[in-house]
Amino acid sequence: MSLVEEIEKRKTFGIISHPDAGKTTLTEKLLLFGGAIQTAGAVKSNKIKKHATSDFMEIEKQRGISVATSVMAFEYRDKKINILDTPGHKDFAEDTYRTLTAVDSAIVVIDVAKGVEEQTENLVRVCRTRSTPMIVFINKLDREGLDGFDLLDDVETKLGMTACPLSWPIGMGKRFQGVYNIYENKLRLFSAHGKQQQDDTIEITNLEDASLDELLGESAANELREEVETIREVYPQFEKSEYEKGQLNPVFFGSAINNFGVKEMLDCFVEIAPQPLPRETDVRMIEPTENKFTGFVFKIHANMDPKHRDRIAFMRICSGTFKRNTNYLHVRNEKKMKFSNPTMFMASKKNIVDDAFPGDIVGLYDAGNFKIGDALSEGEKIKFKGIPSFSPEQFRYINNADPMKSKQLNKGIDQLMDEGVAQLFTKLDSNRKIIGTVGALQFDVIQYRLENEYGAKCNYESLLMHKACWVRSKTPEALEELKSRRRNNLAIDKDGKLVYLAESAWTLQMAQENHPEVEFFTSSEF
Ligand code: G4P
Repeated sequence: MSLVEEIEKRKTFGIISHPDAGKTTLTEKLLLFGGAIQTAGAVKSNKIKKHATSDFMEIEKQRGISVATSVMAFEYRDKKINILDTPGHKDFAEDTYRTLTAVDSAIVVIDVAKGVEEQTENLVRVCRTRSTPMIVFINKLDREGLDGFDLLDDVETKLGMTACPLSWPIGMGKRFQGVYNIYENKLRLFSAHGKQQQDDTIEITNLEDASLDELLGESAANELREEVETIREVYPQFEKSEYEKGQLNPVFFGSAINNFGVKEMLDCFVEIAPQPLPRETDVRMIEPTENKFTGFVFKIHANMDPKHRDRIAFMRICSGTFKRNTNYLHVRNEKKMKFSNPTMFMASKKNIVDDAFPGDIVGLYDAGNFKIGDALSEGEKIKFKGIPSFSPEQFRYINNADPMKSKQLNKGIDQLMDEGVAQLFTKLDSNRKIIGTVGALQFDVIQYRLENEYGAKCNYESLLMHKACWVRSKTPEALEELKSRRRNNLAIDKDGKLVYLAESAWTLQMAQENHPEVEFFTSSEF
């Protein structure tokens, strides 16, 4: 197959949702359709349950599971589909944001009873800034929930999407009778744990057809007619190009656990979801069809076994063909590297691959050479954009609790930061180290892993901090002035970039007012 054919075959996407909306269940049903797994229950949930917020042993267990579920690939209708797993837990949001840099589209799962929830809002916001095409799946229609139109309103107002319902539910909960596929004018009647065979569907080209009354009962049939008419009047018609630009969002209704409405969505997804898209670098756009290989690392996973320090770096291939045992340039290190065991994941199976194509995710065994965001190429010096660090939410000083082990501590901190577990800031005035995280959970993870994997002990000191802002100025004098006047608020991040640590929104505002020639950014990419 030619490179272009390989690219056309691929669809790489992520499923995003608030925890418990049904992401794991939906993933599993998709894998079942693709024949990648044979039985339900084969995909272990890698979510960290709500009760585990302070239980980091649970996180360690989950880490093991999440390696296997990081990428799940399957074939469906001659397409190769790569699903990238995204942790739903808020404390791991940064991990999810980074994973979303490696997808070309996303499916957003919403619980019919809960509507749009906080974490969905955050994740969709990230996708929207990148114009990622998104399809919405409203799940759990077998339960009572919000009215369909209210849900569409929610999707539009809270997620800033333009909803385009392509299926519509007939009742819900106990009254749930099925979905009407607006796109294809087909009716599918609900059966719990249905097999979703092709012949389950009833083609209704005209909703006025009297057979609809027989199938659904007169009142439900009339309700459906009215609702579909309203949809056709109020909501835009589906336009693939609008969806591809991230400006129109198809909405489907169903019940993942009952495997209902999933196939409609998958069939539509396969038809409309984009193939691997170009990626932007600091130098130029990289087209997937370019012959020369390029890729970037978006996730690093440490080995669960503390005796083996090796890690798996997950790389998204952006262009050309990646080949096993071939020398590539590690752009940041300016070093040639080759990989003898690049791995791809098919559900829970790992396979060594000889070559991989744009859109594919390859696991590279790494002895500590990679950092998140690192690029590999055939020689070109590029840095991919869109893999920033964001300002952490929580900050603590980290102290060495065992002076005999300072080397181990520093090494451990360095490696955990490369993995993207948290961010490290070193203060300009005192050289003290500050760890910044999205949630409190990571502090426990770091302490536990430093001890278990690096034999180092640390403790924390609380620190009231509002935000870390990356700063820059066109006038060097303005930066020097900031450094001399606000030295105790300044720090260096892991890449040597200057960061302003603001105790409160007010101090940040004051700093901005007092230093008008300095720009403050809450993400490291500007
Ligand atoms: P997540 O990955 O988004 O966190 O959600 P997950 O798939 O684990 O689903 C969360 C809960 O919702 C699970 O129940 C799951 O069985 C249930 N669920 C998923 N889809 C549907 C659906 O279409 N209808 C109904 N009624 N429930 C659904 P749980 O009790 O938390 O877990 P489990 O014991 O069933 O695994």
